[in-house]
Amino acid sequence: MRAIEYNNYGGPEVLLLTEVSKPVPKENQILIKVIASTVTMADVRLRKADPYIVKFMMGFWHPKNKTLGIEFSGIVEAVGKDVKNYKVNDEVFGSAGFKFGTYAEYICLHEDEVIAKKPENISFQQAAAVTFGGLTALHFLRLGQIDKGKKILVYGASGNCGTAAVQLAKYFGAEVTGVCSTGSVKLVKSIGADKVIDYTKDDIGNYPNSFDIVFDTVGKSPFGKSVDALKEKGYYLRLVHMNPAVVFAGIFTGLTKGKKVIGGTAVEKKEGIEFLRKLLISGEFVPVIDREFPIEKISAAHSYVETGRKKGSVVINVAQVGK
Ligand SMILES: NC(=O)c1ccc[n+]([C@@H]2O[C@H](COP(=O)([O-])OP(=O)(O)OC[C@H]3O[C@@H](n4cnc5c(N)ncnc54)[C@H](OP(=O)(O)O)[C@@H]3O)[C@@H](O)[C@H]2O)c1
Repeated sequence: MRAIEYNNYGGPEVLLLTEVSKPVPKENQILIKVIASTVTMADVRLRKADPYIVKFMMGFWHPKNKTLGIEFSGIVEAVGKDVKNYKVNDEVFGSAGFKFGTYAEYICLHEDEVIAKKPENISFQQAAAVTFGGLTALHFLRLGQIDKGKKILVYGASGNCGTAAVQLAKYFGAEVTGVCSTGSVKLVKSIGADKVIDYTKDDIGNYPNSFDIVFDTVGKSPFGKSVDALKEKGYYLRLVHMNPAVVFAGIFTGLTKGKKVIGGTAVEKKEGIEFLRKLLISGEFVPVIDREFPIEKISAAHSYVETGRKKGSVVINVAQVGK
């Protein structure tokens, strides 16, 4: 089968289209023919080993797992003898998580992984673009006690996690203010934001004491102004929270101001994907797709995502249905 491999950390050019053997499912696994995948910011960081700590997880000198790719949609081609919940020809979508490997024509996953049946009302491309942003936003919004009537500021509202956060916060009944640049204002309003702050013309420092939750989905919000934008006992949710000085400032803020600063890594759960599936069916969550690339153009897709300017997701078309 065709797969994208990388043998060294580096620029987009390290990603190479190659032929590898097709995997065979074990007793509890399903073999999925991948129709679409995505390039996420996580894929870019893993490819570059940025931050350096990536090397401790993926292999110090060379990446041990040679095929990247987290999200997928596809069709079940074979099932192991003990598989109970899937059958051949089921259309599915999900996340391979830290197993990676969705930049390939086939992947084998245990049936209990974060996989769900693809809703009929969405395309394979849309289905591939659900879990990274959707499950991350869901995890953090729940930590921030999202609820009806709460006021939330989503910083980076036009990105993958940002567009998911805006839609899910609206679903939970919150009043949503999105922060983005001029070119994304229309998009952020179209996915349901009640208000939009254009960060090229306005500043969140102008909104003290205004929000129950500030959710930074891109690691760009100014720490002090974000804390000040929170009401008493508010939550500052940070997807990118690795700088030790900022982690310390977060702990100090919690102790002295009663405002909680939360970082960490989102946990992807089967319950979460089933939750999102219902919203996909009802149309309350619609994945935003910026661009699509064929798998042969994976390096160009990585270059684009690396600009940090994509809107929603970048989809990789791996195969066509029926071919
Ligand atoms: N902690 C976790 O578990 C977890 C999970 C998933 C992702 N993450 C991390 O979260 C980050 C975001 O991921 P993503 O895939 O959602 O990113 P993304 O889609 O690549 O984000 C791109 C968006 O960020 C916006 N942006 C760039 N600079 C900005 C700024 N100064 N202010 C406001 N918006 C800005 C861009 O809009 P403009 O061009 O309009 O500025 C663009 O639409 C990544 O670093 C990823 O590694 C963490």
